[in-house]
Amino acid sequence: MNWAHADENARPDAQPEKSWPRHPKPAAPLRSGAVEGLKILNRNVREEILRRNSAKDAKKNAKFQEQVAMSSAQKSGSQWGHSYRLIASEKWKAKSAAMGRDATDALVDYARPQAGMQVLDLASGTGEPAITLASRIGPEGQVIALDLSPELLQIAEERAREHHLMNLTTRQADANNLPFPDQGFDLITSRFGVMFLDEDALREACRVLRPGSRACFLAWGPFEQPFWSSTMGVVHKRVGGTLVPTDQDPFKYSQPGSLSSALRRAGFERVEEETRTVSWTWPGTAEEVWEQARAVATPFLPMFERVPPEKWDEINSEICRAISNYIVGDDIKFGAVVVLASGRKP
Ligand SMILES: C[S@@+](CC[C@H](N)C(=O)[O-])C[C@H]1O[C@@H](n2cnc3c(N)ncnc32)[C@H](O)[C@@H]1O
Repeated sequence: MNWAHADENARPDAQPEKSWPRHPKPAAPLRSGAVEGLKILNRNVREEILRRNSAKDAKKNAKFQEQVAMSSAQKSGSQWGHSYRLIASEKWKAKSAAMGRDATDALVDYARPQAGMQVLDLASGTGEPAITLASRIGPEGQVIALDLSPELLQIAEERAREHHLMNLTTRQADANNLPFPDQGFDLITSRFGVMFLDEDALREACRVLRPGSRACFLAWGPFEQPFWSSTMGVVHKRVGGTLVPTDQDPFKYSQPGSLSSALRRAGFERVEEETRTVSWTWPGTAEEVWEQARAVATPFLPMFERVPPEKWDEINSEICRAISNYIVGDDIKFGAVVVLASGRKP
């Protein structure tokens, strides 16, 4: 589930955020009653969670609930949802970075970055793989992390500073209409972003690449896999209906060959694609990973709206039980089935 230059934020021509951050406010799962409901867990799960939650975590959780309540009171509508997502991203940034580490490394290795490259990372959010790429291409290279959300880019920028990276800049823009001239980049990447972009974005990626350069993408494999089945799958079983809106479908390219076809239609050649399982390990409790997932998984918010509020406690308990099947030692090891695909600009 990722922030912009202070000066980019201040740009007078900054684009308003589009559909990703602008969501209906998170519904019942984020209400205090439902958050409370997470405490009413199957005894075994609860004991496991209690055993593993340190006093420090409990203190952080209390602070987090306080921040959520404050942002709920101060903001309204879509902004409330947005604030919640940002707070959750900040709260869980270390653990979610750990969970996504293997997916990032898989994409970065697949992209084969070289020293001195000009790289564009689309839908970069809080900055991966842009940050990892910037550390690989050396001071002569340059990475632009592009996203619709200035707030997410601001987090990316802070993370880049923490890594002492001087060769990463951020740009708030729509990937479907890139604000760059033709043929300026040696590599384009996107981790868990291409599914939310139109095919225009693939044509735009092709336009701004130098001839012979590659665009490399990592997308989610099928919904039917441990992480999704034990979280959103449980909610979906209860409420049925549409899982995610068609224009925000994380599983848009889960069908093998579908991303390749889109890349060819956009003008790429020497297209390659593979489905792979990478580790997807949460270094903490079931309760934590579900709190993080439901807060940042924006495309599922319309489904959450369909859950009767009184059902949330039961659903939260069932989810924590389902997640507990993947506990190994102090971690939760889901594994993630992902699609890696690339195309070369002719
Ligand atoms: C699941 S997040 C992935 C973020 C990051 N790459 C990661 O792996 O953590 C999807 C991102 O796509 C961005 N996004 C959605 N539509 C976009 C568009 N048209 N142009 C640029 N970014 C977009 C969202 O703001 C969000 O940060």
